[in-house]
Amino acid sequence: MRRVVCPGSFDPITNGHLDIIGRSARLYDEVTVAVLINVEKSSLFTVDERIEILQTVTKEYPNVKVRKFHGLLVDFCRQNDIPAIVKGIRVVSDFDYELQMAQLNYRLSGVETLFMPTNPEYSFLSSSRVKEIARYGGDVSGLVPDLVHNLLIERLRG
Ligand code: PNS
Repeated sequence: MRRVVCPGSFDPITNGHLDIIGRSARLYDEVTVAVLINVEKSSLFTVDERIEILQTVTKEYPNVKVRKFHGLLVDFCRQNDIPAIVKGIRVVSDFDYELQMAQLNYRLSGVETLFMPTNPEYSFLSSSRVKEIARYGGDVSGLVPDLVHNLLIERLRG
C-alpha cells in the first residue's frame, strides 16, 4: 500500500489544495489529508468544520481520508505508517521555505517530502488571500469549492 500525507491548515481548503490532493490520489493508493490543530493561530473555521468540508469536497476520491493532528507532522506519519509528505509548490519562495522543512523532517525521521508543482491556474492562491477577498466582498468563486464559497459568504458577511 503506497501512502502519502497532504498536510496543512486548510482554513479553508482552496481549489489549489484540492488540485494537489486529487493529483496525489491518482498517484498513490491512499492519501491522508492531515489538518493541523494549531491553538496558537486564530482560524475562521474550527478544525472539525474544516474536516467536514474536506470530507465533502474529496468524496469523489475513495482513497482519500481526512484526519487531524497536533505536534510534529513526522510523528503523525510514523504513527500512521506514512512514508512521504506531498507539498504543493506555487512559487520559488515556497520552495525556499519547504526545502528546509523537508530536510528537517527527513533528518528527524527519514520521512520523505515530494514536491508537486501547483497548477498555474492557482499559483497565486492562498487561504489567507481568499479570506481577505471574501471579507471585503470580492468574488472568490472559481478559487474555492462551491461549498466553501457559500460558507465564506455566510460567515464573513453575516
Ligand atoms: O497550510 P499550512 O499552514 O501552510 O501548513 C503547514 C503545516 C501544517 C504543513 C506545517 O506547519 C506542519 O507540518 N506543522 C506541524 C509541526 C511540524 O511538524 N513542524 C515541522 C518541524 S520541522
